[in-house]
Amino acid sequence: MAKSLLKEQHTESLNIKADFPLLVRQPSLVYLDTASTSQKPQCVIDALVSFYETSNANAHRGVYKLSNKASNCLEDARSCIASYLGAQSEQEIIFTKGTTESLNIIAKSFLKNRLNSGDRILLGGAEHHANIVPWQVVARETNSVIDYIPILEDGSLDISSIEKLISPKTKIISIAHTSNILGTTNAIKEITNIAHKYSIPVAVDGAQSVSHQEIDIKELDCDFFTFSGHKAYGPMGIGVLYARSEYLEEMSPFLTGGGMIEEVNLDHSTYVSGPQKFEAGTLSIADAHGLATAIQYIQNIGLDKVANHERSLTEYAEQKLNKIEGLNLIGPLSNRPAPIFSFTLDGIHPHDIATILDDQNIAVRAGHHCSQHTMKRFNINATIRASFGIYTTYSDIDALVDGIIYAKKLFNK
Ligand SMILES: Cc1ncc(COP(=O)(O)O)c(C=O)c1O
Repeated sequence: MAKSLLKEQHTESLNIKADFPLLVRQPSLVYLDTASTSQKPQCVIDALVSFYETSNANAHRGVYKLSNKASNCLEDARSCIASYLGAQSEQEIIFTKGTTESLNIIAKSFLKNRLNSGDRILLGGAEHHANIVPWQVVARETNSVIDYIPILEDGSLDISSIEKLISPKTKIISIAHTSNILGTTNAIKEITNIAHKYSIPVAVDGAQSVSHQEIDIKELDCDFFTFSGHKAYGPMGIGVLYARSEYLEEMSPFLTGGGMIEEVNLDHSTYVSGPQKFEAGTLSIADAHGLATAIQYIQNIGLDKVANHERSLTEYAEQKLNKIEGLNLIGPLSNRPAPIFSFTLDGIHPHDIATILDDQNIAVRAGHHCSQHTMKRFNINATIRASFGIYTTYSDIDALVDGIIYAKKLFNK
């Protein structure tokens, strides 16, 4: 698609920087680090303030009206997220601190109880550390083994190898929906089809997909789905674990204490069932409300519009970045499924590029992006990463490209 046409379409579709107060206050900022954390729209900030101004009380603890209001706020947020994900019931939605905690719960409260010595865990080959380390911990504790699905040169997952890697000892497959480095999106439905033939549950790390494309848990047919609010235009400190109800019952609590008990005696306690079993202590109700507001915000824009906008931006960036001599894209060179670009520049360290870009008020990330093994897979130590969101514009990408060209000149490259 011609650049001018792409730009025209963009102006007609999404132009919503005005919804994001930080971007309004800092008009010269080119924020290209949405994969780390997204900026927050005014409605989410307002929702947090409004909770504390009008509804602040603890949930599920009091009989008085204000406490009921806080409880309703929390449960409305749970219903909103269940419906967004296409879960069968809000009882399958657990509030956590984020993707990291959600994955830890699956590893420690679900899988560990099922693991025996010699069992195997199958992971994607380019996972975020959050989808590796918790499995390593339970593998060490149970004398189990981790296998990894290879990553091909174009960054895609070698799906054809999955069936060969599965053995009767494989007890879970855990995989990112979208890679935080490669800009690839894994074919979850295909993976769950294979896994379920062998009755293996599948956990999906949705941190990088949930706010960029429509998610339908029933269609994906995964058994667990995790994400963080802060990457999806919501507040920090809140996240979600979706767990298929049949697995929720067998899971042991992650944290224990108030709010998750049925009866406490001096020598033993019994626990409630459902999501509350995993929500010991006081939840971040305002943040859950803020997350639901963020979800409603993207729903109001329309997930199809969000996806179209980001697809056009990705195509535009792909064309421009591919033209820069000495720039090496990691992952697909074209038709990149997700708006995340990792690259290196011949002869210049990623941190130097990121610093020079920062001098021009362009925020990108440089480093291993919590995926050191992915760096090793591509024989590099670090990359520069630019990632987009709904507020990203063509001008932001132009600024990035100009900034890279300027940095190359400084280094005589
Ligand atoms: C793919 C992926 N998984 C997990 C995480 C961890 O998310 P959080 O730090 O919000 O728990 C990230 C964060 O960058 C990520 O990109």
